[in-house]
Amino acid sequence: MGALATPYEWLLIVYEINTLLKKSSEAWGAQMLKMKNDRMPDIAFRIMSFMFKIRDFFSSVDKILYEFDIHKGDTIIDYGCGPGRYLKMASSLVGEKGRVYAADIHELAINASMERIKKYNLKNISTVQIDKYSCPVEDNTADVIYALDMFHMVSEPENFLAELHRIIKKDGHIIIEDGHQSRKKTRSNIDRTGLWSVVDENKRHLKCNPI
Ligand SMILES: C[S@@+](CC[C@H](N)C(=O)[O-])C[C@H]1O[C@@H](n2cnc3c(N)ncnc32)[C@H](O)[C@@H]1O
Repeated sequence: MGALATPYEWLLIVYEINTLLKKSSEAWGAQMLKMKNDRMPDIAFRIMSFMFKIRDFFSSVDKILYEFDIHKGDTIIDYGCGPGRYLKMASSLVGEKGRVYAADIHELAINASMERIKKYNLKNISTVQIDKYSCPVEDNTADVIYALDMFHMVSEPENFLAELHRIIKKDGHIIIEDGHQSRKKTRSNIDRTGLWSVVDENKRHLKCNPI
C-alpha cells in the first residue's frame, strides 16, 4: 500500500474537509441566530473569522460579487463586512475611480478589514464603523450595497432596511442574502418596510431597488 494518496483521494479529502467546515459554520450560524443580538461577542467573532479563514483556504467565495451588477467607478458598501473576505475582489471590480466602504457594527471587523486593506494595498477602500443602525455615510451615496450572511443577525430589520434606503442612490440596488434564515422570513421583512421592490432573486440572495 503506498504511503501517499492518489490525486483522486486528495480531491475526496479536500471535498470532505470543505463539507465538514460548511456544516460547522452552518451550525455556528444557527447558534448566532439564537443570540438575536447584532453585535456578537468578541470570542464569537474570532471563532467565526477562523472558520472563514479555513473555508476560504479550500474554496474562495468572492466570485459571487460578479452576480451583483457592480461596475467600474461605482461606490459600493460591503454592509456587515466581517473580516473583509470580499474586499479584494470588490476593490478590483470598482477600479481606481470607484470606492468601497467596508462597514460593520463590530470593531474587530473594522480592525480585520483595515489589516486586509493594508496587506493588499487597496487604495480605494475606507472602513466605516456602524453604530446600531446608523452608518456614517451621506444620503444617496451607494450604487450597490451588499449584505452577505448577516440579515439573520439583524434584530430590527425595519430600521436596518430604512438606513440602507437612506444611503442607496435612487437608481442603485441592494443585495440581501438570507444567511441563516428562510427566504420567507427575508422576503416578509423586506416587504413589510414598503421601501424596497424585489427585482430579482436566486437561491442565495435577493436584489432590491429602492421605492
Ligand atoms: C456572519 S458575519 C458575515 C461577514 C461577511 N459579510 C461575510 O459574509 O463573510 C456577519 C457580520 O455582520 C455584522 N453585523 C451584524 N449585525 C450588523 C448590523 N446591524 N450592522 C452592521 N453589521 C452587522 C457582524 O458584526 C459580522 O461581522
